[in-house]
Amino acid sequence: MNYYIGIDLGTSSLKGILCDVKGNIIRQTSADYEVYYPQNGWTEQNPNDWLIALRKVMKYLSRDCSHSVKGISFGGQMHGLVVLDNKDNVIRPCILWNDGRTEKQTEYLNNVIGTQTLSELTGNIAFAGFTAPKLLWLYENERGNFDRISKIMLPKDYLAYMLSGVFATDYSDASGMLLLDVKNKCWSQKMCEICRINRNQLPTLYESYQVIGSLKKQFAEEFGLSDNVKIIIGAGDNAAAAIGTGTVNNGSCNVSLGTSGTVFIAQDEFSVDKANALHSFAHANGRWHLMGCILSAASARKWWLEDILGTDDYQADEQAVAEADTQEIIFLPYLSGERSPHNDVNAKGAFVGLTSTATKAQMGRAVMEGVAFAIRDCLEVALLNRVKPECTNLCGGGARSATWRQIFADVLDLPVNILTTEQGPSFGAAMLAMVGCCEYDNVQSAAQAIVSVKQTVYPEKQRVKRYNEKYAKFKRLYPLLKQLY
Ligand code: XUL
Repeated sequence: MNYYIGIDLGTSSLKGILCDVKGNIIRQTSADYEVYYPQNGWTEQNPNDWLIALRKVMKYLSRDCSHSVKGISFGGQMHGLVVLDNKDNVIRPCILWNDGRTEKQTEYLNNVIGTQTLSELTGNIAFAGFTAPKLLWLYENERGNFDRISKIMLPKDYLAYMLSGVFATDYSDASGMLLLDVKNKCWSQKMCEICRINRNQLPTLYESYQVIGSLKKQFAEEFGLSDNVKIIIGAGDNAAAAIGTGTVNNGSCNVSLGTSGTVFIAQDEFSVDKANALHSFAHANGRWHLMGCILSAASARKWWLEDILGTDDYQADEQAVAEADTQEIIFLPYLSGERSPHNDVNAKGAFVGLTSTATKAQMGRAVMEGVAFAIRDCLEVALLNRVKPECTNLCGGGARSATWRQIFADVLDLPVNILTTEQGPSFGAAMLAMVGCCEYDNVQSAAQAIVSVKQTVYPEKQRVKRYNEKYAKFKRLYPLLKQLY
């Protein structure tokens, strides 16, 4: 039996799975690392920490199966800026997807270069987390580091480069750099000029399921694997999660509840919404997708439980929130500013509508509802552009909560599918490896053969009505509170 390894380079940990060609998970493990906050609103990670985690995970996954592993692929946190000098040293820590330091550069791109030009060149406008504004920030603030750049890469591409020695990326992840002409799938020369870089500093582009090379001898020996193991470039974590949940056909939808929250709608043709509020990115199946990304999702619940209430007993909380009636309490989840659809690094979180009878459970449930409302904000943009999914898949750590699943079904007024395999991005990455190694003809047939729905949670009419009323209030709060910040 042939085995494949899928790696998910997340924000809080690196997760890996080993599975067979039927999608049975043989082994899985993860390794944590730090996020550094050098200043308020800044987030960084050390690429070497990812590599240490990868080695640990790989050694565990590849134990006793040296001849059976055929391919390794990746899903990775998007948009992060990793820069290497001409000796392949990492020049500075990676600036992450949820880092808000580039407000000035984002404004320059959107207002001076102009959103229309950006949209024509890339299919997208600038958001603070994207890679291009980070390059401008580096030019303006760390000129010495900027001048040393030989290679610009995204987080998962750093791992693929370390393992294979091939400087590569894929279209889905490259879409989030604001340097790719997403529609035509090539680097935009004009965007390179705007960011003062040249094309040679950027990786070669591949489809997510393409083989870029083989495992370097040094790592093959370390992991006890053959140096014939193929490295498949993989995808941005959301596109990888979409593959892992079978979100591959036109109009199909996936909501992911990790540190960030995303709503991802697969599209056979490239399209943009009128205000570019959603990202128009390439998909890992060779096509495209629309995506809204909120910066705090499962992380908002984690903040509430672990940082504020000081507990990590999610099970006890689950019972309490299931029975709570939040009444008028509304939570705005903008704990790290907000990406879609507001594009506002200064947005702030809030509880509104508290009374002296408010309980922990009510507030905890309000946090879950607030995250669902923020995802609905993104979905509404798609609906306005006549993109209307009939149901959605749900994945990520947050999807383990039965209460949250029901809240999503009711707030989005959509049936919510829970998949047999929970590991969205790592499972999608393993599937991309299988396609790269010709176990399946394409991503669609891999999804059809491997992905299955375990449970569907349906919206309930009365609650949908109540949530529609509450959502109308939620929507009015951001414009009102924005004035304070
Ligand atoms: C997507 C985004 C996040 C990260 C999280 O645009 O920024 O979902 O990929 O890992």
